[in-house]
Amino acid sequence: MIQRIKELQKLVEEFSPVNIAEIEEFRLKFLSKKGLITELFNDFRTLNPEEKKIVGVEINKLKQFTTDKLNELKSSLVVSDNSEVELDLSRPGDSFKLGTRHPISIVRNEIISIFTRLGFVVGDGAEIENDDHNFSKLNFPDDHPARDMQDTFFISSDMNVLLRTHTSSVQAHEMSELKPPIRSLAPGRVYRNEAISARAHCLFHQIEGLYVDKNVSFADLKQTLDYFAKEMFGEKTKIRLRPSYFPFTEPSAEVDVSCTLCGGKGCNVCKETGWLEILGCGMVDPNVFETAGIDPNVYSGFAFGMGIERITMLKYGIKDLRLFFENDLRFLEQFNTAY
Ligand code: DAH
Repeated sequence: MIQRIKELQKLVEEFSPVNIAEIEEFRLKFLSKKGLITELFNDFRTLNPEEKKIVGVEINKLKQFTTDKLNELKSSLVVSDNSEVELDLSRPGDSFKLGTRHPISIVRNEIISIFTRLGFVVGDGAEIENDDHNFSKLNFPDDHPARDMQDTFFISSDMNVLLRTHTSSVQAHEMSELKPPIRSLAPGRVYRNEAISARAHCLFHQIEGLYVDKNVSFADLKQTLDYFAKEMFGEKTKIRLRPSYFPFTEPSAEVDVSCTLCGGKGCNVCKETGWLEILGCGMVDPNVFETAGIDPNVYSGFAFGMGIERITMLKYGIKDLRLFFENDLRFLEQFNTAY
């Protein structure tokens, strides 16, 4: 009998069902009233008392082992095969909440997408700069007020290392490090030591454009900006250029677009002028070319720079610059766009 018990033990050990039905079949075969283990108990009755002592223990062990194994198999199959048990296929799916992009990112991406259609390539620049690239190479005279402590966050005590005050510093790098033709865009953070208000912040974002090649003219600059304004603010948008001064461009201009709210008729947003200022631009100053090692008799170019906050405020009618930095979800969740 011990031999028979061993055989059955082996069968139980090797049993590996794939579904619940197979377990039930096995249970009937082994443990039901006419099952193989039950039969063993019948044979057991015919044994003498000495044999009963030994065999009884072994049959009980086999029965316990078989019961435990079948229970275990059953529960593991119920868990893994939960299509039978828990999954309700008619239940509607749970939606999950997607985040939204920050309005500054949305508008930055839109500006980039407009200029990349014209062949501009996005470049990168450091936020920690030296005086050379932020000022000197851009033709800022030594006594220019922008170098004053009022505007610039200096990092080193000799005032050589600083947080860039504009993305024009990237132009300075590109002109000395790349060979024309150059058609680049440089978006990024800039810093100025200004009191925080609805219209000014010590940290904001700019995007810089630079185009250097043979025969680049002021008409090219105007066309490029006209295309940008129409793509950004709508087909009917007009631009106007007002003479201005920047050390690194000559001639320089400030660019206005027809008011995005009243279309040019005059309202309180444009202070009844019909125009809103959006950027500064000009033809690269020959001094800047020379410092960078580009021959101004062979090459010409234009540059422009705009504040991303400013464009975003005009596009969405936002009146307070501080909203961009407060991370208030009630504000941010309104910009639910795929851009
Ligand atoms: N860097 C200027 C500023 O921060 C903006 C600017 C003006 C950039 C004229 C230019 C430019 O590239 O040509 O106010």
